[in-house]
Amino acid sequence: MSLFKKHSELAIDLGTTNSLVFIKEKGIVLREPTVVCYNTERDVVETVGQDAQRMIGRTPGNMVAVRPLQDGVVAEYDMTVEMLRYLVSKTVPKTAFTTPRAIISHPSGVTQVELTALRRAAEEAVGDDVLLMETALSAAMGAGLPVFDPIGTMVVDLGGGTTEIAVLSSGGIVIARSLRVGGEELDEAIISYVRRHLKLLIGERTAEEIKINLGVAKTKKTLDARGYLDTEYEKSMQIKGRDLDTGLPKDLKITQGDVAEALEYPISRIVEAILTILEKTPPELAADINEKGITLTGGGAELHHLAQRISEETEMQVYKAENALDCVAIGSGIALNRFDELAKSLR
Ligand SMILES: Nc1ncnc2c1ncn2[C@@H]1O[C@H](COP(=O)(O)OP(=O)(O)OP(=O)(O)O)[C@@H](O)[C@H]1O
Ligand SMILES: [Mg+2]
Repeated sequence: MSLFKKHSELAIDLGTTNSLVFIKEKGIVLREPTVVCYNTERDVVETVGQDAQRMIGRTPGNMVAVRPLQDGVVAEYDMTVEMLRYLVSKTVPKTAFTTPRAIISHPSGVTQVELTALRRAAEEAVGDDVLLMETALSAAMGAGLPVFDPIGTMVVDLGGGTTEIAVLSSGGIVIARSLRVGGEELDEAIISYVRRHLKLLIGERTAEEIKINLGVAKTKKTLDARGYLDTEYEKSMQIKGRDLDTGLPKDLKITQGDVAEALEYPISRIVEAILTILEKTPPELAADINEKGITLTGGGAELHHLAQRISEETEMQVYKAENALDCVAIGSGIALNRFDELAKSLR
């Protein structure tokens, strides 16, 4: 590296659903859906992010709208490079005197092949100075947990593609599980419930809208008592889709009770995975978590009653982090201050 060159330091949360860029000393400067719209005839990228997301399900024959990541890992290599290039070009000024260096987060428990694909894509788009860091650590730092202290903390990052469950202590992950169940599985559960019980075909964007408006986790009060559903889950909304019998467009009402029912299976899988990690946590750290509680980050943390449901099943306090969607970007942004130190331990 030339003596005169300066680094532009950035942290990228390359999420399955959303990508964020954090620039040192500035904070989060960009938030875009992780979608690339590609023109297959001309072999060029048409749009990226928000504009590309609008094209999902609406592309003409010569274009495809691609989500480059699936379950938190690179699914479409070239599109991942394009996504990263876009994020860097939008946020880092191009001058001869600065080279970017970046921290990018990834799920725990990825295979070596998946990790290598991410590193290659990052090096292609950003340059050689790239550090990969586990999402759970970034999320915990971003949520303000004392991860560098010798006490146990637990974070659950509920993303679009994965749920990262981790116990941390003294700056490291003690035990972690990356569950390939995230917000997108919740959307799919709504799609299949609506198809099966309401005989209506809906798209993924409608499903997400339903989840955000009416999504709720069942709690003790409502889990077994079917009778509660009507009074507990009063909200409802009109949805549009295609009637399975006639094949024609149709409107109908979906209730919060329907959505609670639809989400129960994926939510119970998340809760079970949290319980399994707690069972495997060394006793001293478990005692710390018992005292301090569990912190939820990621978009899924916003799901109504989810914290309460996890709290009931684990018998621990569960908190939703402030700015849950931003925690990973903020945490890896904070880690930029320790880049050289981390470079020794992470590379
Ligand atoms: N209010 C809400 N209620 C429920 N789910 C929500 C809400 N807001 C956002 N989400 C969901 O959160 C998910 C996106 O969260 P996030 O941005 O943390 O994921 P990501 O980082 O892109 O994915 P990953 O970390 O798995 O790679 C989406 O599935 C979205 O539907
Ligand atoms: Mg994420």
